Amino acid sequence: MPELRLFSTKPYDRVGFDRVDSPVERVYLEPRLALDTVGLADGAPAVCVFVNDDVSAPVIEALAAGGTRCVALRCAGFNNVNLDAAERHGITVVRVPAYSPNAVAEHTIALILALNRRIHRAYNRVRDGNFSLDGLVGFDLAGKTAAVIGTGKIGTIVARLLWHLRCRVLAVDDFHDEHLVGLGVEYVPLERALAESDVITLNCPLTDETHHLVDAAAIERMRPGVMIVNTGRGALIDTEAAIDGLKSGRVGSLALDVYEEEGELFFEDRSQEIIGDDVFARLLTFPNVLVTAHQAFLTREALDAIATTTLANVEAVLAGEPCPNTVP
Ligand code: NAI
Repeated sequence: MPELRLFSTKPYDRVGFDRVDSPVERVYLEPRLALDTVGLADGAPAVCVFVNDDVSAPVIEALAAGGTRCVALRCAGFNNVNLDAAERHGITVVRVPAYSPNAVAEHTIALILALNRRIHRAYNRVRDGNFSLDGLVGFDLAGKTAAVIGTGKIGTIVARLLWHLRCRVLAVDDFHDEHLVGLGVEYVPLERALAESDVITLNCPLTDETHHLVDAAAIERMRPGVMIVNTGRGALIDTEAAIDGLKSGRVGSLALDVYEEEGELFFEDRSQEIIGDDVFARLLTFPNVLVTAHQAFLTREALDAIATTTLANVEAVLAGEPCPNTVP
């Protein structure tokens, strides 16, 4: 029976993977994959990793030396994998290209609505017996301009939901979705989207081209008071530039589900620790910043789909069969 060792697993991962009927034997490991934990993969033909596992060249070399032939990402993005090294060592990398784009799109809209109407502040206030409304003023989304950067599987749903909220929707992507165009969504160059939008949501992958897509220069070109939302990958935003924008008021509000240095923070309970990341700590001081810890994907449907696809991917690769979800 082929064995899959799953790194960085949490109770909710195990529930999803245990529900799937598959000949692949599952061994759940809590540690994150990194150079100092890669020995845990010794002898396993396949390992499964998540967004913040380290799948850099030295780790791949060690995996190959231990007999691993397949790295199965239980996520869509693969920016944490050195694909050249994987190819050099004959390791096949597979991923889950789409598990529930609805989950991420709905979370994106949840962040926009919550941040705009200051739900995060209202919740704490009311529980504390403070029924004042000062500082909770939002704006009608209807009639506002919202830009979706990246209209792939997730971005198209975000754009459609924003359209249903009666926003004027702009989109930035080389590939134009005909259904969105039919609704009246307008594809525009990035410059125009930045200049004309009240809300900007990032739904593109992290690549060399999109790294720090939102930097000081981009923020300078945005409408004063713009809302920026990132459920893509942390490094799409230069966080220090965003902080400067928040301090000057040019950025009106910021919602993040991802953070460029999240690998040191997210997915663990650190409530008893002192946060050592001063940039992140500064972000948390703003009343107009809402952060969730990379949970946009976290629905029952998505977890089931992730487990089913991952196990099918591993079964195919280890059997030497073609796998449609091979990266790239
Ligand atoms: P996708 O591959 O279906 O769509 C990405 C789209 O971005 C494509 O249409 C592509 O043409 C476009 N794009 C690429 N470079 C661009 C650029 N410079 N400017 C504008 N558009 C550009 O990917 P999908 O499934 O929609 O996911 C998007 C991203 O969302 C993933 O790469 C991943 O980083 C992130 N994600 C985040 C999750 C979370 O839990 N927060 C969960 C799943 C994905």
